[in-house]
Amino acid sequence: MSGHIDAVLGMQWGDEGKGRIVDWYARDYDVVARFGGGDNAGHRIEVGEQKLALRLVPSAALNPSVELFVGSGCVVNLEGALEELARLSEVGVDIERVRFSDRAHIVLPDHALLDRASEHARGGAPIGTTGRGIGPTYADRVSRVGIPLGQTLDERTFRNALRAIRSVHERALQDPSVLPDFAEMEERMLAAAARLRTAIVDGVGYIHARLAAGKRILAEGAQGTLLDISFGSYPYVTSSQCTAGGICTGLGVGPSAIGRVIGIYKAYTTRVGSGPFPSELLDAEGDRLRDAGREFGTVTGRPRRCGWFDAVAARYAAALNGTHAVALTKLDVLSGFERVGIVTGYRLGEREATLAEAMHPDFRAEVEFLDGWAEDIGGARRPADLPMNARRYIARLESLVGLPIELFSVGPEREALIKA
Ligand code: GDP
Ligand code: IMO
Ligand code: MG
Repeated sequence: MSGHIDAVLGMQWGDEGKGRIVDWYARDYDVVARFGGGDNAGHRIEVGEQKLALRLVPSAALNPSVELFVGSGCVVNLEGALEELARLSEVGVDIERVRFSDRAHIVLPDHALLDRASEHARGGAPIGTTGRGIGPTYADRVSRVGIPLGQTLDERTFRNALRAIRSVHERALQDPSVLPDFAEMEERMLAAAARLRTAIVDGVGYIHARLAAGKRILAEGAQGTLLDISFGSYPYVTSSQCTAGGICTGLGVGPSAIGRVIGIYKAYTTRVGSGPFPSELLDAEGDRLRDAGREFGTVTGRPRRCGWFDAVAARYAAALNGTHAVALTKLDVLSGFERVGIVTGYRLGEREATLAEAMHPDFRAEVEFLDGWAEDIGGARRPADLPMNARRYIARLESLVGLPIELFSVGPEREALIKA
């Protein structure tokens, strides 16, 4: 029998609650695999008293029998990965289950520095990156000077690769003296690579052996569709493919291996960093969403920008990913709003507009309002437990997005979920 890959993907600008949804679906899988991004991701899960913020390790850390795989499309900060593994091990997670693809590229201290330098070079229009060196690492991969994890396994090869990439970075910077001391960095990287060594595997072989053995694999998205390098709100995006296509290129499988795609939407919208945001609320309602939803970044602690659910962006994301069904998170956060908005159209003068035109000065978003609900719904466990207006809101989203919502979450805890 041959196995297959299902996916849980973020459909907005990240932080949709992918971690907690993956934690829940993971019970039906043998392997959970990240296929892209690095520790710019922050995925929170809460099970009982245990609360974890995962950056690179897949969000099935609290599902003891599931294998955890960091795939070929990811970028790995060696020291960051070791710290994360140590942190997980301390709280009783079996980290022997974690494997890294030899084709994932490594993020060096140089890259964080280049990240800051490139933000600075943009003057008044920075991206607002997480500052973790993700963009420069992917840029080096495309420029064919990057270092795949597999090259850290042989000391001489690794030393040569480090020297080569450093000379490229020196030429890229106006003032190369800002780069960390090379000899010190080299020793740190060699030491870290030696400690990670046993977790590095042939990434393509790993996935295909499990598919051949009939295993069920869940691909865990990082970031979100609207941050995708090709289809997001460019240039205010991340540097990897966050959409379903990234599963093929990030794990090394063909499209026929992919089964169901679950799209995760927050019941409203948030965004960290700069860039267009058609449904953004810059008023008291936005502040209220931020407070009620505790919308502060997991990685950088930055306040997240908040706004209503954007059904136009939602349909765009659903199409890009071949999405089968939806999991809707943080519905509880909308409790207590007298009215709840949904963006239902984009206009540029008399005509319809697209998200790609959102930076145009005449771009306008049309908002529809529904009556809110006052009840606290954190304890709801069945659809019938929800107030009528919450059910109306869900039905309206289903009809606007054109997909069934199969799961809602009403709190951060594992059990705060309702199956439709
Ligand atoms: P991810 O990056 O998509 O995994 O999302 P994050 O973990 O960065 O952000 C989602 C935040 O919302 C986390 O702090 C979660 O604990 C929290 N969260 C997830 N689902 C719910 C929910 O249904 N209700 C509430 N109130 N919080 C939630
Ligand atoms: P998770 O997986 C939210 C955003 C940054 C910035 C842009 C580029 O937790 O949903 P980068 O450091 O990737 O070059 O930054 O992308 N960004 C995220 N926003 N959630 C994330 O991950 C993000 N990862 C990157 O804020 O706007
Ligand atoms: Mg996050």
